[in-house]
Amino acid sequence: MEYKMIGPEHCDQVLEHLRRNFFADEPLNKAAGLCQNGSSCPALEAHCAEAIMDRMSVMAVDARDAKEKGSCKIVGVVLNGILKPGDTAKALSKLDTNGDADFRKIFDLLHRHNLQHNLFEHFDVECMFDVRILSVDSSYRGQGIANELVKRSVAVARKNGFRLLKADATGIFSQKIFRSHGFVVFSEQPYSKYTDGDGQVILPVEAPHIKMQQLYKAICGTDQEE
Ligand code: ACO
Repeated sequence: MEYKMIGPEHCDQVLEHLRRNFFADEPLNKAAGLCQNGSSCPALEAHCAEAIMDRMSVMAVDARDAKEKGSCKIVGVVLNGILKPGDTAKALSKLDTNGDADFRKIFDLLHRHNLQHNLFEHFDVECMFDVRILSVDSSYRGQGIANELVKRSVAVARKNGFRLLKADATGIFSQKIFRSHGFVVFSEQPYSKYTDGDGQVILPVEAPHIKMQQLYKAICGTDQEE
């Protein structure tokens, strides 16, 4: 497996990988019925493309596939963006004008939670390294690719001088992965408590995923364990 930085020139290929894997499989997308496997989702694609433009993202490429078929298959990605104070509030107000109701359900939960449990109020940082999307091709899972992508993201954050990383992990496996790389749980949102005015659960997320965790990792100058 080869690991490479993602540039804007890889955007179409990364989105194609996400359409076949992340868009339908991620626990909240699945609960909302956001999109079918392989289909596009303009709102989520715009969110992903924005992160790619920050040039902090990493992909896993099957080198064997490249040699055999002359093509280069992306089998995993971690999309990382730069988050500044005020960005989440802005994104939440922009959400009102988004025509995709399922997308709104997901990002309303994430943005409101992040504003209520605001890492910027707890850490004296001007920006954060935001791990936004972690996705591995379904036929390559269980081989440590997500682990390696997160490990490399921490290295990218450190190289670029970030002091704080954050991630909203929506399922128990991604939560385990982030914790194993030294991320600490800052806040949690049980899915059963995200309800509408009638007390109905808005996102019926399937077991074993029961809550979203907002995690952070502080990097200090001497911390070189990754
Ligand atoms: N069942 C049991 N354990 C699992 C599973 C699973 N389905 N998936 C991962 N794990 C565990 C592994 O055992 C491993 O533990 P270890 O380090 O103790 O051995 C650890 O998680 C890491 O496993 P990897 O092989 O590195 O994970 P993988 O490459 O399979 O990718 C991922 C995991 C990214 C969650 C993948 O299943 C996926 O793409 N899912 C759909 C999208 C998604 O849910 N992404 C995360 C959302 S949160 C976010 O994007 C910030």
